[in-house]
Amino acid sequence: MNKGYFIQQMRAQQKWRLEDSVNLLPSENVTSPQVRALLSSDFGHRYTLPVNAKYAGEYLENGYRGTKITTEIEQSAEELACEVFRSKYACVQPLSGHIAAMIAIVSATKRGDTMCAIPVEYGGYDGYGQAYLPDIFGLKACTLPFNPDSFTIQTDKAAAMIRKRKPKLVILGASFILFPYDMKPIQEACERTGSTLMYDGSHVLGLIAGGEFQQPLKEGANVLYGSTHKSFFGPQGGLIVSDDRNADREIRKNLTWRIVDNIHWNRIAALGQALLETQRHGSRYAKQIIRNSKRLGRELSERGFPVMFEELGYTQSHQLLIDQKKLRKTYGSSMNDFSIKVEKSNLIIDSVGRLGTAEITRMGVKEKDISELADLFMDAAEGKNVKRRVKAFRERFDMEYIIR
Ligand SMILES: Cc1ncc(COP(=O)(O)O)c(C=O)c1O
Repeated sequence: MNKGYFIQQMRAQQKWRLEDSVNLLPSENVTSPQVRALLSSDFGHRYTLPVNAKYAGEYLENGYRGTKITTEIEQSAEELACEVFRSKYACVQPLSGHIAAMIAIVSATKRGDTMCAIPVEYGGYDGYGQAYLPDIFGLKACTLPFNPDSFTIQTDKAAAMIRKRKPKLVILGASFILFPYDMKPIQEACERTGSTLMYDGSHVLGLIAGGEFQQPLKEGANVLYGSTHKSFFGPQGGLIVSDDRNADREIRKNLTWRIVDNIHWNRIAALGQALLETQRHGSRYAKQIIRNSKRLGRELSERGFPVMFEELGYTQSHQLLIDQKKLRKTYGSSMNDFSIKVEKSNLIIDSVGRLGTAEITRMGVKEKDISELADLFMDAAEGKNVKRRVKAFRERFDMEYIIR
């Protein structure tokens, strides 16, 4: 391998994914030059113990020197997270959404308890399936009753189930998430049974930050956590916020030397910067995402493409769902084959049937541009290679649009 191999690969990746393609994956986003500069900065070389690092309740002494700037940035990022999410407490230590979930779950349960989440077959996060996080923490997993027609939980049945089974932990939020949950009955049932209610906002964190979709903490969740790189346009990582002093205390007990050690200070600095950008531009961005999603749903449907939930306005988030049965009938292909086909035209989608509008919104796509995008998508769907037109479309937009 030549010594420039990885740099060459980086250049090829950046040209392909940042210049030539249009990204419709709902799990991804792009970051500002400032965020990218912080990610590659000296902060990424260093160690220090987080502020308030504790083990089993004892404060840990920070043995690292050279840390006076690093130590400050964690506190500043947490203050900003509290402002952006309108919360009392924030923790920016999780290295990813999955790690945030681990910290949150372990802080609210003990071995033998039951945790309840959205069923994986309806887009619940795979990690909450019995074989994954519940297995690690010795928990029994159960699922909330779900209505595929309205693509949300069956609230009354779920509340009744919580009252009956008394799970220690209930987690709302999912990997496929189109519509807000009716949280009040769930929150009341949790309060009655002493269950902790958490909201995994990995997918919708940018919408929540911008005041859209729903406000889990105001609607009764004890804790909100998630990834900081999907609809929230930050570095890859995670965060946890809450208004609940006890929940925050339990979370803090499960950080240093339990779920994390070095918390990657370049990520923390970059997250702080993304929070600053969200504070200024997050509301406009979140509103535009929802308008773009609805318009993309409509424009694709009008062209005969099988987007689900037309009768419900398609979506209230950054995601749309493709009807895979109809897709097979129309195009004779599985979702996986279909995603490979449109990738040939540099339209990037996933193989599980979601389309996402967060990244295109960040780069300045508005409703007026969606009809052209839908035309490109339909041509790619029919097997035409529209790479050149995709690139020409991409070139009209500017990755930094939303933060100017
Ligand atoms: C709902 C949900 N929670 C948690 C995660 C894990 O997040 P991360 O990839 O940041 O670890 C995902 C990942 O896609 C997710 O969809």
